[in-house]
Amino acid sequence: MAATVGTGTTAGGDAVQAAGTDLRNVDGPLGVELKKNVKDAWWRAMVHARKDVVGLDSAILQRPEVWKASGHVDGFSDPLVDCRECKARFREDHLDDAVCGNKAFNGRKATKCRDAGFFTEPRQFNLMFETHMGPVKDSASVAYLRPETAQGIFINFTNVTNSSRVKPPFGIAQIGKSFRNEITPGNFIFRTREFEQMEMEYFVPPDEWEKWYAYWRDRRYQWYVDLGMRKEKLRIRDHESDELAHYANACVDVEYEFPFGWSELEGIASRTDFDLKQHEEHSGKEMKFFDDQSKSHYHPYVIEPAAGVDRATLAFLVDAYEEEQLEKEKRTVLHLHPRLAPVKVAVFPLVKKDGMPERAHAIEDDLRRWTNVFYDESGAVGRRYRRQDEVGTPICVTVDGQTAEDNSVTLRDRDSMEQRRVNLDALEGELRRSLEV
Ligand code: GAP
Repeated sequence: MAATVGTGTTAGGDAVQAAGTDLRNVDGPLGVELKKNVKDAWWRAMVHARKDVVGLDSAILQRPEVWKASGHVDGFSDPLVDCRECKARFREDHLDDAVCGNKAFNGRKATKCRDAGFFTEPRQFNLMFETHMGPVKDSASVAYLRPETAQGIFINFTNVTNSSRVKPPFGIAQIGKSFRNEITPGNFIFRTREFEQMEMEYFVPPDEWEKWYAYWRDRRYQWYVDLGMRKEKLRIRDHESDELAHYANACVDVEYEFPFGWSELEGIASRTDFDLKQHEEHSGKEMKFFDDQSKSHYHPYVIEPAAGVDRATLAFLVDAYEEEQLEKEKRTVLHLHPRLAPVKVAVFPLVKKDGMPERAHAIEDDLRRWTNVFYDESGAVGRRYRRQDEVGTPICVTVDGQTAEDNSVTLRDRDSMEQRRVNLDALEGELRRSLEV
């Protein structure tokens, strides 16, 4: 699957090191399309389809003051332990799936090393990547790569409220890269050090937070279902009070049952007025909303749906994958929702003669105006269908001998494998309907 769709280069979770770079989250040509479609679907649902949410693109590099205010400098850390025996390092709270780094122990569970007393005392390891801004490398030039996109939204709260006509309840949405120096990245693209987030901070009157928390919990679960994810593989899990982040008074995770177990896709947190108050205190600039009607200033409460692009992509891939037993053969098919499919339409000439390639190219060029098309004339048409099934292309269009006679082509559906003839004059409308664009 990794080779076919090409999101991530390293099936099995081993990092590939090239010139010192962790290539874990390189996307191939099809993977980058899939991820772009996930992000577009999120932006469409969270920004374009709504009157109450605006978008933002804030800076990746931020001064330590931002991360001191947010609590990341003091508290964004994981407990790290070293094994004195094999010299490997582990996250103390993620030991269940970890194995000892010493090949001589042949995949022995890390918990056994712990029980044998090989581990050092845990020490807190801050997950933020540090760098320097400007030519001088000293303590005054320190900056951090953002570990979440959220803080870029909070520090721009006043910019947005002063420049757009928004008033609570309203949201600011952002998609972008985040960076965490994870101790144990793994499970393919599930946990990486460089990843993308899709976050929205929804600012509400303080007495309405419970209503909007319930609303966003339901909406975010439904987003995955609307894009075809199986309900039986999805669940919502409430955080226990000892799991809550320092800024939250309530939080739920949307989880997916991956082959490696139930794991978090997204968190929906009630962040109260923690962040705005913290940034106000640290910057000395008021971060209240002025309510025209009551003529009062107040700090809105915040509900935050925070999703991972890479995790959602992995879940959509896993969920869509099927090895389907047909009468005479097995076919591999990705039942991706049409909006997520990397290639929307494949165009084939039945054979490479009698003007069919020229006609098929003309159709390809015409469709390329508005959608992502793939042209293929190599091999038997059945094999070409299989190749498209494997990458999840919803519709194949085939030009054959009849096309020259009556201007019609064959439309073949990925999931049902049914074929029907459509006149070229109606092709764009038919495809737009099937692809839901
Ligand atoms: N602003 C809140 C926040 O960042 P989080 O639960 O730490 O909350 C939100 O992150 C989402 O970002 C997660 O649910 C997950 O999908 C994604 N994410 C977090 N760390 C990740 C990592 N190391 N690799 C891939 N995705 C990650």
